[in-house]
Amino acid sequence: MSDLDSLAQAINGCVDCGLARSRTHAVPGEGSPQAQLMFIGEGPGFNEDQQGRPFIGPAGQFLDELLASISLARSDVFITNMVKCRPPNNRDPFPGEMEACSKYLDAQIEAIKPKVIVPLGRHALAKWFPNESIGKVRAKARRFGDITLFPLYHPAAALHNGALRSTILDDFAKLGDLLRAPAPPPETTPAEAGPVQGQAHPGESEPQSEQLSMF
Ligand code: URA
Repeated sequence: MSDLDSLAQAINGCVDCGLARSRTHAVPGEGSPQAQLMFIGEGPGFNEDQQGRPFIGPAGQFLDELLASISLARSDVFITNMVKCRPPNNRDPFPGEMEACSKYLDAQIEAIKPKVIVPLGRHALAKWFPNESIGKVRAKARRFGDITLFPLYHPAAALHNGALRSTILDDFAKLGDLLRAPAPPPETTPAEAGPVQGQAHPGESEPQSEQLSMF
């Protein structure tokens, strides 16, 4: 059994926070165990809770479209969430719920070792940059040791505000550029750049304009 399979088993049986009581299914995440690109959303919604799979509702359909726009499929990437169980009525996850669940996300990152992590929306962004706004930092790459963070608006934002759809498509095109661009020589050491997992240490790392070739 792979690390990811045992993590999924642990997640499916987890009762470490109150969300366990109201869930239909936990949603560990899915995709390639060798993914170089990982997307992290907020938490499962109604459809995801029903089926135990991430991003399969309307926001997920837009995510599929966004992936296709840069010639990627779900099977090329790994998709998961900050919390693995649906918050009732799709409310924001509570800090204690995200804290209780963070060990699973950290272990998934450790098992997959993606080169690029895309936090989708403000909740995922806050894992690394708790004091920054998604509107300001979106579509800008930041390196942390071996990992590049490339925060983007959550695809659901376009469902609430249609004007954001083209912005998100443009931002995804920039992600495509990042994935295709040649890798620069490493300029930061992990110690200089700060941690990839766990809570962020804001200010330890400055955004970098260099681009990395991922594939
Ligand atoms: N929104 C999320 O953040 N995650 C999902 O899995 C679905 C919708």
